[in-house]
Amino acid sequence: MAKEERPTAPPVDDYTQETYGEAWAEYYDEIFSRSDQAAVDLLIGYAGSPPRAVELAIGTGRVALPLHQRGVQVIGVDISDQMVSRLREKPGGSEIEVVMGDFADVPVVGEFPVIYLPFNTLFGLLEQERQVECFVNVAQHLEPGGRFVLDCFVPDIKRYDSHNTRMAVSSISSTSEHAYELSIHHPVEQRVTSHHVRRRKDGQTIVLPIKIRYSWPSEMDLMARMAGLVLEERWGWYDKRPFNENSGQHVSVYRKPEAPSIS
Ligand SMILES: C[S@@+](CC[C@H](N)C(=O)[O-])C[C@H]1O[C@@H](n2cnc3c(N)ncnc32)[C@H](O)[C@@H]1O
Repeated sequence: MAKEERPTAPPVDDYTQETYGEAWAEYYDEIFSRSDQAAVDLLIGYAGSPPRAVELAIGTGRVALPLHQRGVQVIGVDISDQMVSRLREKPGGSEIEVVMGDFADVPVVGEFPVIYLPFNTLFGLLEQERQVECFVNVAQHLEPGGRFVLDCFVPDIKRYDSHNTRMAVSSISSTSEHAYELSIHHPVEQRVTSHHVRRRKDGQTIVLPIKIRYSWPSEMDLMARMAGLVLEERWGWYDKRPFNENSGQHVSVYRKPEAPSIS
């Protein structure tokens, strides 16, 4: 007898590529204030001379600004005016060129020694096909020998209960402040629709939506191969700690082969 089917969660269809920035921009730097020194150091090592880099989904400049301060000419891509205006308000933020558009298209001119896409943001592309297109377009804008560097979480479907939902407390930080996550997992599409809810001291409750389509490290390696890129390194983080079965995230470096020499 066929196993009883679980109820299918209704799709959330008012979510667009702009939704993340519209909702999160005001709170993003408060929530994710930390820049990552190890990421900056690693990316500088790939940026060539004079150092140049493209950040896909630059956001408020968490990674791009420290790179810019260390002399790297960074070009950013983002789709959200709200996120980019936060970048512009920061010291040095108006000196970074930002191309407004969909990062999957890699809408920049030229070839670069490194293109990077931090903070799980590949998963912001909600179809596998679009993620593949992102790899293909990145490859077209890498110099021979250039690198595509991403960090992503390793999917963990144990986070979701038998109804493919998750309700989890993120923090209770005072008598009036708390944060929690509500998520629905769509395992067939590899998508997760979440609300991160924060109740603040002033009594205001903020709902921060996010929708992702996760992919497995091995799946990303195939996408890279389809784009002509080769996995060069995979670490557990930018500080080059080993990637293993306990890693919750990975930093992957894909390399564009040198042009074949003509003999
Ligand atoms: C999690 S934030 C990451 C920002 C920054 N890279 C960082 O590491 O702090 C995701 C960013 O991706 C942008 N974004 C989401 N989908 C996009 C798309 N399809 N094209 C361009 N930008 C997109 C959002 O506007 C937001 O700025």
